Order: sequence, then structure tokens, then C-alpha cells
Amino acid sequence: MAAKAGAAASFMFMLFLLNIACQAQLSPAFYDSSCPNALSAIRTAIRSAIASDRRMAASLIRLHFHDCFVQGCDASILLDETTSIQSEKTALGNLNSARGYNVIDKAKTEVEKICPGVVSCADIIAVAARDASAYVGGPSYAVKLGRRDSTTASRTLANAELPAFFESLESLISRFQNKGLTARDMVALSGSHTLGQAQCFTFRERIYNHSNIDAGFASTRRRRCPRVGSDATLAPLDLVTPNSFDNNYFKNLMQNKGLLQSDQVLFNGGSTDSIVSEYSRNPARFKSDFGSAMIKMGDIGLLTGSSGQIRRICSAVN
Ligand code: HEM
Repeated sequence: MAAKAGAAASFMFMLFLLNIACQAQLSPAFYDSSCPNALSAIRTAIRSAIASDRRMAASLIRLHFHDCFVQGCDASILLDETTSIQSEKTALGNLNSARGYNVIDKAKTEVEKICPGVVSCADIIAVAARDASAYVGGPSYAVKLGRRDSTTASRTLANAELPAFFESLESLISRFQNKGLTARDMVALSGSHTLGQAQCFTFRERIYNHSNIDAGFASTRRRRCPRVGSDATLAPLDLVTPNSFDNNYFKNLMQNKGLLQSDQVLFNGGSTDSIVSEYSRNPARFKSDFGSAMIKMGDIGLLTGSSGQIRRICSAVN
């Protein structure tokens, strides 16, 4: 009798554990019954935003990265400042730099029209990044869904956890390792610098004072980025094809034409040289590793089950 009761209790305990495990698991099919048209509504909104501003593809991919590295992929980056919320939008790496908040807000509005209160802002950012990649020639991949939105944000954490353009390879590797990502994931993800733009102040030191830079490339970049002033003037992160997702970024690094210090350290005689050279030779491998690394990044620090909330609008808690 006692043995039977014990077996029943351990069976119940197993069910309990299984339930927790299932809750914590994301799945690409998460909205299949609760909001079957969510993904197509998001895709339409993202495509139209990129069609009118090609750079938006880059900005949306970066937004997902900056969301996931601060408190996990919980849409904390989208919250506006209030008396109780320290907005991440004004953190060093985001202020006058991160873009696409309004594009996510708009996609959310469209999704709320068809399924109010069902789809999280955190999932919309993750799907938007995937749709952006696919739209400009990058990989498409199955985004796992079921994230919930935070009720808090942290500028302090954002200032502490987002990597900076002047960091060493070791420091960058350890930042990514702290988030469960390998050096190889980091190199693949940095390959998204095949898209988008950087401001003069982020690469000034490199084009004037570094020796591991191609002389012609440095002199071209100096033309629009003087020693003093023009801090916000933009230059493409990939000088060859800034609007399409390809592996030119890695070819540039091998010619000392990385724009940011944090780009060039990936190919500067260190442990990641071989990965850069592999991706420069094998674009298919780069794309498939990029997709896998994005899926892995999308798993950082999730709120699932009944944690957090599904925000009604992405810029404020309910
Ligand atoms: C390895 C550490 C990284 C550092 C230090 C870094 C730094 C930067 C900086 C300084 C800019 C230019 C911002 C500006 O001038 O306003 C930038 C742009 C960008 N970053 Fe990164 N980044 C890193 C990794 C990543 C990762 C992992 C991703 C995506 C998964 C990413 C995606 C982008 C994109 C797409 C842009 C262009 C954005 C646009 O044009 O709006 N970066 N990054």
C-alpha cells in the first residue's frame, strides 16, 4: 500500500517536473492555435518598414541583440521611461543609436487587431529580426516562440552588459560566454555587421590611431569623419555591400578593412582568425551558423509560463 502511494507520488512529481519543463520550452508552433495569423501579420509590417528604409533590416536585427543581452529576450528595451521604469533606450549603446522601436510598436498594433493580448512584444522582436534577415538575403530560420514581456527594464544593466566598440577579443568572448554563447556564435552573430551603419565617433580612434588597418580604407573613412566633429556621420559597417546580407564582412576583416575595433579584433592574429577565414570562404556555412546562433541568442534569460506579462502596447507595462 505504502509502495503504491509512493509510486503515485513520484508519478505526480514527474508530471509536475514535466509541466515546468514544457512551460520553459519555446516552440515555433506556440501561436498556431491561439493566433494563427500572427506571423504573417508581423512579416507584412516588417517588410513594409524595410521596403521604405532598407537600413531598418540592420536596425531590427540589432534591436533583438540589445534586447536579449539585457535581462534576457523580454522586450525590456522597448519600455519608455516612467517614475518606476529606467528606460534602456537612453543607455550608452542605445541612445541616438538603436532604431526600430516604432516598427515593432506598429507590428504589435497590427497583431493586437487580430488577437488582442496574445502575442508578446519579445516574440515580435525575435520574429522581426528573422524576417529582416530573410528580406535582405540572410538566412530564414524557425523562431521559437512563447516568450513573455518584462514588467521592468534596467538602464544600469544595459550600460553594463552591452559590448562596446573598443573592447578586446578576450573581453568580447567572455561577455558572450556569460550569455551562454560561444566564440563561434559571437563571430557568426557579428557577421550581421554585413548590414547597417556606424557613427564616426565609434570608429574615429581606429581610423586615426590604429596600425592594423588598410591605409586606403582608413583614408577614405577619414574624409567624412574628421578628428573633431561630425560625431554622428554614418559609414557602412560593410564597405562593399552594406544593404545585403552576405559574407563580405569577413572578407573585409581579412584585408584589415573592419570598421570598428571590435570587428577587426576578430581577425587580428587571435583565436577567432580561423572562424573568420572559414566564413569568408564558405558563405553557406556562415548563414547556417548565423541562423543557429540567432536561435540560441533568442533563448537567453526567458520569461515563460506565467512570469512577466503580455503587454498591450510594447512601450509600457500593462
Ligand atoms: C561583438 C560585439 C559587438 C559590438 C561591440 C557591436 C557594436 C556596434 C556598434 C558600435 C554599432 C554602430 C552603432 C552606431 O554607430 O550607432 C553597431 C551596429 C550594428 N550592430 Fe553591432 N556590435 C556587436 C555585436 C553585434 C551583434 C551580436 C549583432 C546582431 C546579432 C549586431 C548587429 C548590429 C547591426 C545590424 C548594426 C547596424 C545597425 C544599424 O545600422 O541600425 N552587432 N554594432
